[in-house]
Amino acid sequence: MKILNTIKDMRIAVKEAQRNGKTIGFVPTMGYLHEGHLSLVRRARAENDLVVVSIFVNPTQFGEGEGFETYPRDLERDSNLVESAGADIVFAPAAAEMYPLGAATYVEIASDITGKLCGASRPGHFKGVTTIVTKLFNIVTPDRAYFGQKDAQQVAVIEQMVRDLYLGVEIVPCPIVREEDGLAMSSRNTYLTNDERKAAAILSTALAKAQEMIKDGERNALEIRKVITEKINSEPLSQIDYIEIVNDRTLEPIEEIKGSLLIALAVKIGKTRLIDNIRLEV
Ligand code: PAF
Repeated sequence: MKILNTIKDMRIAVKEAQRNGKTIGFVPTMGYLHEGHLSLVRRARAENDLVVVSIFVNPTQFGEGEGFETYPRDLERDSNLVESAGADIVFAPAAAEMYPLGAATYVEIASDITGKLCGASRPGHFKGVTTIVTKLFNIVTPDRAYFGQKDAQQVAVIEQMVRDLYLGVEIVPCPIVREEDGLAMSSRNTYLTNDERKAAAILSTALAKAQEMIKDGERNALEIRKVITEKINSEPLSQIDYIEIVNDRTLEPIEEIKGSLLIALAVKIGKTRLIDNIRLEV
């Protein structure tokens, strides 16, 4: 496996693969990888000839005080992990490579899809995501790009961007990978103390309860939201940011449980903000 740090080297590697008729699968990450990321790499390995994983902690998607400086970083550990999952190339550029002095172009979706859910409490976050993902797509020129469904809004936002800008990349959303107690895997879980780690299972427990209610025939979104809220509030270390039941493509709130929908939530456990969701077809 190669580790490349410059756009020039990345482009040379990609062009050579494409000259030889190879398809390119791409997994963009911010590093500090866990089993969730590795499941994306394995899927990309199974479906493409060349697998590229980017590791870049993107400064423009972090707001003030959102922990850009303290975000965990360990390139050596990450490279070993992705190599064992079958990647061919790690692209790990420096910040100055992706945002050189004078760079002034951003990609921003001009609809409310980026302003709701996580976008409401993290203004500017998705502008940072769409900008870096566009830059990475332009460098790696993948056939397919793999994203975890845990960041369901990110998937919806990137799908819209790819549609709007005719980027010609197939977006492949992949299932959430969970710990044994149901907690969705996330690099942020490393911030949790032992007590917080136990408390964090409340997110998936509440979502499982919602799913059970729907299975039993409940169709009133308000009622389901109320039960999720009560469940999460029963955990003293939790503080709800949002609980939303929305159409899974537009992210518009729904009142009646029907069609393709997403139940998404963000909850602070101690100081750590965690997200989780379930996607349902009713
Ligand atoms: O999901 C992430 O890790 C990041 O938002 C991404 C897609 C790598 C862009 O920085």
